[in-house]
Amino acid sequence: MSDTTLKAFRATLVDFNDLAHSSEQIAEQFRYIADGLLVVEDGKIRDLLPWTLEAEQQLACEVMDLRGKIIMPGMIDTHIHYPQTEMIAAFGEQLLEWLEQYTFPTESKYGDEAYARQMATFFIRQLFSHGTTTALVFGSVHPESVEALFGEAEKYAMRLIAGKVMMDRNVPTGLEETVQQSVQQTEALIERWHGKGRLGYAITPRFVPTSSPQLLEKAGELRQRYPDVWMQTHLSENQKEIAWVKQLYPQQESYLAVYDHYRLTGKRSVFAHCIHLEDQEWQCLHNTGSSVSFCPSSNLFLGSGLFNLSAAKAHHIPVGIGTDVGAGTSFSLLRTLGDGYKVQQLQNYKLNACEAFYHATLGGAHALDLHSVIGNLSPGKEADFIVIDPAVTPLQALRHHNSKDIFGQLFVLMTLGDERNIAQTWVNGECVWQQGITEESHHAVFA
Ligand code: GUN
Ligand code: ZN
Repeated sequence: MSDTTLKAFRATLVDFNDLAHSSEQIAEQFRYIADGLLVVEDGKIRDLLPWTLEAEQQLACEVMDLRGKIIMPGMIDTHIHYPQTEMIAAFGEQLLEWLEQYTFPTESKYGDEAYARQMATFFIRQLFSHGTTTALVFGSVHPESVEALFGEAEKYAMRLIAGKVMMDRNVPTGLEETVQQSVQQTEALIERWHGKGRLGYAITPRFVPTSSPQLLEKAGELRQRYPDVWMQTHLSENQKEIAWVKQLYPQQESYLAVYDHYRLTGKRSVFAHCIHLEDQEWQCLHNTGSSVSFCPSSNLFLGSGLFNLSAAKAHHIPVGIGTDVGAGTSFSLLRTLGDGYKVQQLQNYKLNACEAFYHATLGGAHALDLHSVIGNLSPGKEADFIVIDPAVTPLQALRHHNSKDIFGQLFVLMTLGDERNIAQTWVNGECVWQQGITEESHHAVFA
């Protein structure tokens, strides 16, 4: 063990600022140091600056030479289901049938804590190996599932937010819970885990069709009682789902009005999908300061529809990116951005690389109201970052080298890139993943 926690890295450094509102502002949208020095101390970023020999010599530590690689902030996945890892790529169904046929039976296994622990370990390794350092995660209905997940994330001092699903109707027997159970278990988990290290809790009503008015009422009360806790749910993903919500809550004007009525909107409320919103729902998201998770891979896979990013921008709504595994088909936010680009192309919106990477990093941090601590490489932020090898296949190398600037290279990365490009993942100033190190030897190497 060295007696200092100082670490330094020489690489290309890039991070992403707030959204520009015109294409002329693109240059202001990201920070780029072609040959940079990143200095990390006690789990925080101490400095980022252009590399010079003097700067290197002044440091009281070795500099890791990563020239040719790109360091960027760790990716933030704002919507993912950890018990669905094992059912990714389930054939043929759209949302409601997919839930019945695949999701509910799979999630029913997570009451077994030993099993949940095994899958939580696998899940966290998947996040790291795909370059994700923070995620907002759905567990199953069982508190054991979330216990296992927080326990695993805690080992790495990871910034992770999760919650046990709340659902008290329209689910198979065995997964149903009473309102009282749901609230007691949620409250116990909040008390035990929220604010422990870098962990956070999210109150997690699955979606309106599986929630009675009493359950939503109590979820809203919990929200008031614990104002810095998060809330995550699904909103307006599929037309049959929306029709069902109208039938269950005919007195409410819209799908979002149901959540809003029960005080589940607001800062730190993250609504996944938001595909078929009416104008008043966009307005409500804006007025309440709520956030959205854009899940393009899932939306294509389940045939749900196309998220309107320009409408979200027009309403100034914080937008993060979600893989939504297991409806999404990859843990990789690079791949997910590639899908996001295509979803926007179908609506004549050009999702440029700066904007795309912004949503996967600082934009996600804004969506989670964590932008003061994560999301970019600014000094003082928590040291969650990834080292990217921008060209790991002959085709990537060809296209990387004929790109005219970093802007073009980043677009190639989000179009052709995936987990093979993640050379290293660093969480809280520690390396938690390195490409080419096998899982068996990994702990020994980085212990
Ligand atoms: N709506 C309610 N539950 C789910 C889920 O597990 N996945 C997705 N994509 N949508 C949902
Ligand atoms: Zn989901």
